[in-house]
Amino acid sequence: MPATLHQLKVFETTARHGSFTKAAEELSITQPTVSGQVKQLTQTIGMPLFEHIGRKLYLTEAGEELLATCQEIFERLDNFEMKLAALQGAKRGQLRLGVITTTKYFVPRILGEFCQDYPDIDVSLQVINHQQLHDRMADNLDDLYILSNLPDDLDVHAQAFLDNPLVVVARADHPLAHQKNLPLSVLDGADFVTREMGSGTRLAVEKLLAEHDVSVQVRLELGSNEAIKQAIAGGLGISVLSRHTLITEPPHGELTVLDVEHFPIQRHWYVAYLAGKQLSVIAQAFLEFMVRSSQKTLENSGRRSLALQP
Ligand code: PGA
Repeated sequence: MPATLHQLKVFETTARHGSFTKAAEELSITQPTVSGQVKQLTQTIGMPLFEHIGRKLYLTEAGEELLATCQEIFERLDNFEMKLAALQGAKRGQLRLGVITTTKYFVPRILGEFCQDYPDIDVSLQVINHQQLHDRMADNLDDLYILSNLPDDLDVHAQAFLDNPLVVVARADHPLAHQKNLPLSVLDGADFVTREMGSGTRLAVEKLLAEHDVSVQVRLELGSNEAIKQAIAGGLGISVLSRHTLITEPPHGELTVLDVEHFPIQRHWYVAYLAGKQLSVIAQAFLEFMVRSSQKTLENSGRRSLALQP
């Protein structure tokens, strides 16, 4: 007897959670039904799909292969449903986005506008650092990604749509504020607040400093751009942040941008998706909408502020 779609769904859910109980919860069926379905599927396939080691459930090699196949099948079915819905003019479906931390000043606004046209879609938005985003990409968990450092080890389609420069941020009363053309060596030994490991911002700064043999004095490591801004305002040191993080700052507020040689570090935001991915109708529509409206939204959200200087 061939495997049924239902059995594949039960298997995929179990494999994703690594647990019969959690799969039963998600699918609103009983745990014995889950194990019964997996057992039948195992018999049909003729090879074990899971192994129990201790109290944990692991996928066998055949299980891994089947999981990848199931994910492809369900993704295609989801897309088919969305295409059908689009044909019927219903504009329903899911949009899964993975974006780096600095886009949080911009993507939610764009999403808000987009959802006025697509009020019935379900959106999931993960705002994370580059390393976490690359991990999600490798697992094919989202439709679209917005990031600055493209992964070396994955085949992706990427379109650059806005600049994402990194600037040196200091407290407004910093002795070097308002000075022009400072050499990079002013950062040597400077008290510095850094982002966490896995951050693309941190990677770009470390690379530049290492190339020029400059080393800062790291006083604090923080996992959030907003927290870093507070630490700078609190006098803990300077930092390097995307200019976009300053967009919410008032023109003559607590922070300033230092005019240091080799800064801004020029980078872009890319919207990307995995090569070979069948973009859903909604993901495709969002991609186009975002690239079109990004310029306008940023202008409205306050480019006039500190983000423009020096
Ligand atoms: P990060 O990415 O959160 O990984 O530092 C932000 C950026 O590179 O703009």
